Amino acid sequence: MENEKITVSVIKADVGGLCGHTLAPEELLEACEAVLEEAVDEILIDYYVTRCGDDIDLIMTHKLGCDNEKVHGLAWKAFEEATKIAKELKLYGAGQDLLADSFSGNVRGLGPGCAEMEFIERKSEPIVIFCCDKTDPTAFNYPLFKMFADPFNTAGLVFDPSMISGFKFEVHDIIGHKKVFLETPEEMYMLLALIGDYERYAIKRIFRRKDNEIAAVVSTEKLNYIAGEYVGKDDPVAIVRAQSGFPAVGEVLEPFANPHFVPGWMRGSHWGPLMPVGEDDAIPTRFDGPPRIMALGFQLSNGMLIGPNDLFEDKGFDKAREKAFEMADIIRRMGPFQPHRLPSGMMEYTTVPKVLKALEDRFIPLEESEKLKEGSQKRENRDDVE
Ligand code: F6R
Ligand code: MG
Ligand code: MG
Repeated sequence: MENEKITVSVIKADVGGLCGHTLAPEELLEACEAVLEEAVDEILIDYYVTRCGDDIDLIMTHKLGCDNEKVHGLAWKAFEEATKIAKELKLYGAGQDLLADSFSGNVRGLGPGCAEMEFIERKSEPIVIFCCDKTDPTAFNYPLFKMFADPFNTAGLVFDPSMISGFKFEVHDIIGHKKVFLETPEEMYMLLALIGDYERYAIKRIFRRKDNEIAAVVSTEKLNYIAGEYVGKDDPVAIVRAQSGFPAVGEVLEPFANPHFVPGWMRGSHWGPLMPVGEDDAIPTRFDGPPRIMALGFQLSNGMLIGPNDLFEDKGFDKAREKAFEMADIIRRMGPFQPHRLPSGMMEYTTVPKVLKALEDRFIPLEESEKLKEGSQKRENRDDVE
């Protein structure tokens, strides 16, 4: 087993909520568990099924590598079984993230989100699995930057000889369908210039520069771009390796002690604070939120998932939750006004133009703007003569 590569695959989907978009009930998790249980030994080494709000998260280990058809097919089957029950119970949005009628190859582009990494298990391999609801993959830009590039967050960047040479960030341009690699600390400012723009750039993977070891990966499937218009959520998941040459577990969690604003919340159309919670509190109800993040810590033991340790259950995050509530109160006051409301390009709902269509014929030109147009035309003509 030693020196054999292990793959950790986290595949998630929303296939029905009780009630509305608040919670994936136990029955659905059990349906998924039954499918994964049958695949142990044949496809999987181990698995853990959980949920964050209305999203089911399948955490799986195996030796088949990333993007493997068998593993992805298994996740698809689990979600299909859960969908059958969701439909029987008439749960809300039953099967909403299974966009294709049948599975082909891997789940990418079919609806579910997916974060996977393959590596040789270290002598001791602590990993943290993050699962979110009511936000999108860019929610990880800020905390991942802090974990892997900010020495005020991660003391290991200063004290650990294996981290001193920094990390390499794979950043995806979601709109341009391109990617770029940037290395910190040297290219930190350029990295920030990109990832501070949630409309376009998302961190996909992070590698340790010293040896190119994979350190972190995020699910970056954007359902709204895949399907052209709103069909479901892209609530993200992420895997982060911790300790001995990677940020310590406490450094991985530290960015969430001060909640940051993320896009999502009600109708995927509002900024809201990302609230760190334990598994039992991942039930977003207030204005369908505020957005939630869970952190489950595991130790891998020859691919077995030992755990989880429900890391945000710690009282040390009580204050972060209080702050998140305060931030929620403040921004909620803005109602449909920006900056609570997202700019139109970032909204998960593309329905506002439909609402406004009725006004199309009622718009009349502004007199002043007509005059301005005339004025600038005259100026242009003068410039041409000169
Ligand atoms: C956002 C989310 C919910 C729904 C909202 C309206 O990601 O899941 O906030 O957008 O409950 O849902 P529909 O349009 O299904 O009535
Ligand atoms: Mg839902
Ligand atoms: Mg969701």
